[in-house]
Amino acid sequence: MTYAAITGWGACMPPAVLSNDDLSTFLDTSDEWIATRTGMKERRISHVGAIELSTVAAARALACAGLDAADVDLIIYGGVSNDELVPNSASGVQIALGATRAASIDLNTACTSFCYGLTTATAMIRTGVVRNAIVIGVELISRYMDWSNRNVAVLFGDGAAAVVLQASDEEEGVLGSILGCDAEGRQTLRVRGFGCTYANRDVNFGDTIWDFDGQAIFKRAVHAMADASRRVMAERGVGPDDIDLVVPHQANLRIIESVAKYAGVPMEKVMVTVQKYGNMSAATVPVALVEALDEGRVRPGATLLMPAFGGGLTYCSLLVKWGQRVTPIATSDLTLPPATKSALEMVNEIRAQQDPHGRSLAGLMAPAFAESWAHPQPA
Ligand SMILES: CC(C)(COP(=O)(O)OP(=O)(O)OC[C@H]1O[C@@H](n2cnc3c(N)ncnc32)[C@H](O)[C@@H]1OP(=O)(O)O)[C@@H](O)C(=O)NCCC(=O)NCCS
Repeated sequence: MTYAAITGWGACMPPAVLSNDDLSTFLDTSDEWIATRTGMKERRISHVGAIELSTVAAARALACAGLDAADVDLIIYGGVSNDELVPNSASGVQIALGATRAASIDLNTACTSFCYGLTTATAMIRTGVVRNAIVIGVELISRYMDWSNRNVAVLFGDGAAAVVLQASDEEEGVLGSILGCDAEGRQTLRVRGFGCTYANRDVNFGDTIWDFDGQAIFKRAVHAMADASRRVMAERGVGPDDIDLVVPHQANLRIIESVAKYAGVPMEKVMVTVQKYGNMSAATVPVALVEALDEGRVRPGATLLMPAFGGGLTYCSLLVKWGQRVTPIATSDLTLPPATKSALEMVNEIRAQQDPHGRSLAGLMAPAFAESWAHPQPA
C-alpha cells in the first residue's frame, strides 16, 4: 500500500504588519471590538504578488524535504488570489522553482483550498499517478478587499505556506478526509467584482463589494467543521483523546473554540494563529501547521486534525498521521525582498485606487443582472 507522507513544510509571511489600531485610522472600528469579537490583533499585508509568496514558501518546503525541484511531479496552488487567471498561478510557481516535470493545477475552494489540495495530492500519490507533490495555500486578499467595509476589512490578511508530499510505504500523511459543501449557504459569502460576470463592464479589478452574513457563516462553519471532524474520527476509529493537535482554519477565535468544544478536544491541543495573522483564507491551515512544527508542537507520530471551511460554503476535516521527522533536512536561502512601505501605507495606496462608493460595481447590481448571472437557484 502506498501512502503520501508529508516530508517538507515552509511558510512565507510578508513582513509588513497591519494592526487593529491601523484599521481604526480609516474605519469606524476599534482594537477592542476586533479583539473581543474575533481574537485578531494584527495581520500581514504583502508587498509582493501571490506567486512570489508561494514560490518562497514552496522552496522552503522543498529544502525541508531534501527534494530537488526537478523531482516534483505535481504542484497544487490552493487559493482564491491569482496574479492572473491565464496563465494559471501554479505554472508561475513551477517555472520559478525550476520544477520542469511538474503538472500544475490551481485549485479554488476558497479557505479550504489547501486542505482540498492536500486530499487531492494524497489521492494522486496513493493511486500512483504521481510520487512527489507540492501543495500550496496562499492568499493575497489585501488587493481585492473592500477597504471601506468594516464588516470584512478587519478580518483578513495575506500569507502563504506549502508542504511537500512523497510516496511512502509507511502509514502516514492524510489518512482520512471528509470533504463537503453547504451550497445552500453560498450567498452568505460572495465577493462581487471577480469573474466573467463583470468583464467588459467598467469594473476595475480590485473594486469589490462583499456580501457577507457573518453570523450565518459562523453558525454554518461551526456545525460543518465539528460534524466533519466527528465523522473523520469515527471513520478512522479515532477518539478526541487520540488527537494530539488540532490545526484548524483561523477565521475567528470563537469559531475555533466552538469547534474544539463540539469535537471534544481541549483548547490546549489547538494551534491558534488568528491573533497574529487574521484570516488568511487558504493559507491559514498550512501557516499554522508550519508554526506548530517550528514550535515543537508536532511530535513524531502525532495524530493531527485539520478542520476548515470557506466560501461555497465548502468544508472539510482531515485526519493526518505525522511521520517520525519533525525537523527540516535543510533550509532554503530564498527570501522576499524587503518591504519599503508600511502595511498602512500599502493599504492606503490600494484604497486610493478603489472606487470609494463601489459606484461602477453597484450600478451593475440591478436585480436582473445580479439574479440571472450570479444566483443559480436550487433545482
Ligand atoms: C463577522 C463576525 C466577527 C461578527 O461578529 P458578531 O459577534 O457576529 O457581530 P455582529 O454581526 O453581531 O455585529 C455586531 C455589531 O458590530 C458592528 N460591527 C461590524 N463590524 C465591526 C467592526 N469592524 N468594528 C466595529 N463594529 C463592527 C455591526 O455593524 C453590528 O452593529 P449593530 O449591532 O449596530 O448592527 C463573526 O460573525 C464571524 O466571525 N463570522 C464568521 C467569519 C467569517 O465568515 N469568515 C470568512 C469565512 S472563512
